[in-house]
Amino acid sequence: MNFNYTEEQLAVRDAAREFAQKELLPGVIERDENQQFPEEQVKMMGELGFMGMMVDPKYGGGGMDTVSYALAMEEISKVDASASVVMSVNNSLVCAGLEKYGSEEQKQKYLTRLAKGEIIGAFCLSEPEAGSDATSQRTTAEDKGDHYLMNGTKNWITNGNSASVYLIMAQTDPEKRHKGINALIVERETPGFTVGKKENKLGIRGSDTHSLMFSDMKVPKENRIGEDGFGFSFAMGSLNGGRIGIASQALGIASGALELSVKYAKERKAFGVEIAKHQAIQFKLADMATKIDAARLLIMQAAQLKDAGKDFAQASAMAKLFASQTAMETTVEAVQIHGGYGFVKEFHVERLMRDAKITQIYEGTSEIQKIVISRTLLK
Ligand code: CAA
Repeated sequence: MNFNYTEEQLAVRDAAREFAQKELLPGVIERDENQQFPEEQVKMMGELGFMGMMVDPKYGGGGMDTVSYALAMEEISKVDASASVVMSVNNSLVCAGLEKYGSEEQKQKYLTRLAKGEIIGAFCLSEPEAGSDATSQRTTAEDKGDHYLMNGTKNWITNGNSASVYLIMAQTDPEKRHKGINALIVERETPGFTVGKKENKLGIRGSDTHSLMFSDMKVPKENRIGEDGFGFSFAMGSLNGGRIGIASQALGIASGALELSVKYAKERKAFGVEIAKHQAIQFKLADMATKIDAARLLIMQAAQLKDAGKDFAQASAMAKLFASQTAMETTVEAVQIHGGYGFVKEFHVERLMRDAKITQIYEGTSEIQKIVISRTLLK
């Protein structure tokens, strides 16, 4: 399929592919098994410019477009979705929001280091009782004049233990509901900040997902992003962009599963011929490839709208909805094509199948994407 990618976009894609094959593939099975964070590899991703791809070079970023970011996310996710979620959160949910809405001082202090990958960021919206229902934030940030006093708990935080900087959504004025929420930048060393338990997950096991606790934590007023009460808009806007990243992650998982399946089908023999010669396998491969290309079209539509400065909320929700469904369906088929080998770790597809599931859950479940899509339709 010809998307008329520019030379620069293709060079980014090829660099990401090479990095993934050379640096992520060896050890990916062990990291998954041992729930080991890819620390060394994430450091390299920073050095190669993958952690702040779209940030202006004057703040340490790569100055690239969203299409390049989506291409890089796909290549890295084909091999290691645990590494790519670290990348996605840092790029889309931390750097992008800080660059767009942060003060100059916040950008100088935090964004430059985050964009270079010298430090990692986390985005903290989900709570024990506020996942899909994100307006029901229970974490409080009481206005104390020159600072906020934060109390509460966050759940399911990607980069929970590896981050140095946390963007935390908290309720300052409950009567105003979502318009009383603020987004605050919190440094890990802040007194009252505790990293809680690490989740033992089905997939993306190399990424570190933690709960966080805040007890009478003082956050300076200058750490608020935007005006008072801007926090929920900030979170929603960030998630619109984040969904392009997760859609690309899902696409990578799906296309990785297809590549492995094509290779296996040409090698494995059954009933006297390569299984690729059987229509039962050909039909599966054809369905997988068709869905993957459709997902890619939706992702590129969302990325191009974003790059053109147009409204892309509906397009990114569509891309994430369809790509995550594609990831789930194609990885299940990949395991089936591999038969018994698909059920063991050495052939990678069982990991891709486990990793696929989270793409239908985080940054908004499939049901949330349908809400976002239908609201735009009906408004
Ligand atoms: N873009 C911009 N604004 C949006 C928006 C979007 N996609 N969705 C909602 N909003 C705005 C609405 O316009 C509204 O603003 P106004 O009051 O100014 O008009 C405001 O948000 C509140 O909207 P609603 O009154 O419709 O609120 P609601 O409670 O009925 O529904 C929701 C809101 C869309 C369901 C929202 O809560 C939501 O998106 N939930 C999912 C949250 C989510 O994705 N969490 C993921 C956590 S982060 C993560 O997963 C990261 C990781 O680890 C990888």
